[in-house]
Amino acid sequence: MGYYIGIDLGTSAVKMLLMDANGDIIKSIAKEYPIYFPQNGWSEQDPQDWWNAVKAGIQEITAFCDKSNIKGISFGGQMHGLVMLDENDKIIRPAILWNDGRSAKQCKYLNNEIGKKKLTEYTANIAFAGFTAPKILWVRENEPENFKRIKKIMLPKDYIAYKMTGIHSTDYSDASGMLLLDVKNKCWSKEMLKICGIDESVMPKLFESYDVIGVLKSEVAKELGFSSDSVKVIAGAGDNAAAAVGTGAVGNGKCNISLGTSGTVFITQNNFSVDSNNALHSFAHADGKYHLMGCMLSAASCNKWWLENIIGTKDYAESQADIKQLGENKVFFLPYLMGERSPHNDPDVRGMFIGMSMNTTRNDMTQAVLEGVAFAIRDSIEIARALGIEIKRSTICGGGAKSQLWCKIMANVLNMDIITMEKEEGPAFGAAILASVGCGEYKDVCEASNKIAKLNKIYKPKGELVKKYEIAYRRFKEIYPTMKLWFKN
Ligand code: XUL
Repeated sequence: MGYYIGIDLGTSAVKMLLMDANGDIIKSIAKEYPIYFPQNGWSEQDPQDWWNAVKAGIQEITAFCDKSNIKGISFGGQMHGLVMLDENDKIIRPAILWNDGRSAKQCKYLNNEIGKKKLTEYTANIAFAGFTAPKILWVRENEPENFKRIKKIMLPKDYIAYKMTGIHSTDYSDASGMLLLDVKNKCWSKEMLKICGIDESVMPKLFESYDVIGVLKSEVAKELGFSSDSVKVIAGAGDNAAAAVGTGAVGNGKCNISLGTSGTVFITQNNFSVDSNNALHSFAHADGKYHLMGCMLSAASCNKWWLENIIGTKDYAESQADIKQLGENKVFFLPYLMGERSPHNDPDVRGMFIGMSMNTTRNDMTQAVLEGVAFAIRDSIEIARALGIEIKRSTICGGGAKSQLWCKIMANVLNMDIITMEKEEGPAFGAAILASVGCGEYKDVCEASNKIAKLNKIYKPKGELVKKYEIAYRRFKEIYPTMKLWFKN
């Protein structure tokens, strides 16, 4: 039977798994690497750290299997990150990540001077600080020497594919987040390339997520212990599209919520469409179709920050064990630790607790963090509802989905069924499914995903609690407009 490797190049770690053709996971591991915050709101990583972690991880997960059975490798990757290589394929500077807010000025230029209407016409989207095009403009303006050296631009997972195959490629779902792709027509936007001052020759070749881009280079195959030419490399997808494949969110009208470092609401669509207010992104999906997506920049990372950095514990379960009283918390938390994308598009805003009294306990604050993230996810759900999209249920994945308490809060704040998956490895699982489709195990992504992704537990909203959270959500919604100017100074 064929085996497939799924690699999720995440922000805190690379998660990797080995899956057989039936979708059973043989082994999975995670390897962490550092993230650097060189200035307030900036966020960078060293692509070499990614590559080292991926190589070590592949060796680990394949150590005890017959490597000749491994047929394909594919990826899900943190989106939007800017990786630049020079003429000798050297990394020019650290990658600027999806949650980096340095390009506020360039976004203003794009959204106000080029104009949202034109941007939407060219790419189906507008500029957000994390997107790739504003970051290219930032490099052009602030690091002209680096800008001049650019010979190749790529997204994080595509750097790994490049190291493996020598082929400079990307897929439509990930490319959608660059603000350089004409999403509707699935080609690079000549207008956007011109605005950014880059030639199409520096851009990767475009593939569908399930397309084979090549095979492992012989020196890489040797280093990893494979015989050369035997392992196919499949384009893969942005991590949210890969997670959607891993949770059965393919085809039309499905929803998946991811509570990872970021928090996303991913709505599948058979046909291309644009949110006329550009609050939701309009991107290509890994199944060959399209999706709408809202993305908050700090989701499970708020909980990690609160518990690990502030409280000083890694015992997440223990820290939530005594939280029983839902819907009546007087403390609110705004989860904007890295600024916010959907729906505020505001790189300057930051997180805050509000409403504490002498009675406030540590549990109240831990609960407020979970609730604040759920309210911010609801902001994206509300936008979709206002567009007439009916969402009655959603799968959920990512580190946050491991918390039963958080899933319960989500179901009641969003007033919908929230469904966990039997296998929690969203993007890495989706990536392995894409690899299996690329190698011909399944007819297409929908068939593979529907067959392999299995649901686990359903969290149902409960009338009384939904009402309480409805009131709390309205209170939450008042905080940002009241405070936003404060962060501009
Ligand atoms: C999506 C986004 C994040 C990253 C996280 O637009 O920016 O979800 O992909 O890895």
